[in-house]
Amino acid sequence: MEGKTAKDSMATLARTMFPTDANAAGNVFGGAILRQVDEIAGIVAKRHTRSNVVTASIDHMNFLAPVYVGDLLILDARINCTGRTSMEVEVEIRAEDLDTGEVRAVGSSFLTMVALGEDGRPTEIPPIVPTTGEEKRRFEEGQERRRRRLEELGKRGG
Ligand SMILES: CC(C)(COP(=O)(O)OP(=O)(O)OC[C@H]1O[C@@H](n2cnc3c(N)ncnc32)[C@H](O)[C@@H]1OP(=O)(O)O)[C@@H](O)C(=O)NCCC(=O)NCCS
Repeated sequence: MEGKTAKDSMATLARTMFPTDANAAGNVFGGAILRQVDEIAGIVAKRHTRSNVVTASIDHMNFLAPVYVGDLLILDARINCTGRTSMEVEVEIRAEDLDTGEVRAVGSSFLTMVALGEDGRPTEIPPIVPTTGEEKRRFEEGQERRRRRLEELGKRGG
């Protein structure tokens, strides 16, 4: 199958946070952010594969800075590496105070997305072809995380 680059599928999502996303004090729920993270990872994975995709795993996540109602949540997502049917998507999370323009790094998340064929089973995907030095570094680091993930699961990587 012909390879694709990370640039072919990368995406950015920006969304204002509303009171329904937050607790009574105006702090946005981690779960509300994770929902957006999952959504953009799905968009990127679908762009890469043009097939149905599901989330197999989300690596542990730390929230390094708060997000408040009224902030703009900004998510940048890209594929780091691919296996036979799965891919690692990295999502960088930032929050912008729209009154002041201050941008805070909130964290990042690694998701494993799996492509499903029409039979609902995992199906082969185009490999990611790293072209730049940074893409090669991301690919190698992604492969190492994938190896560790599968080891924890007791699965062998393809
Ligand atoms: C993800 C899922 C399709 C994997 O099915 P499976 O029978 O384990 O399939 P396989 O063993 O062939 O694995 C398929 C790929 O997923 C990867 N994978 C499976 N479980 C994984 C996990 N928990 N974390 C990371 N990767 C995983 C495998 O390594 C394999 O990747 P590769 O082909 O690139 O090497 C299946 O577990 C599932 O449907 N889960 C529910 C997904 C879902 O609905 N998510 C939304 C929230 S419920």
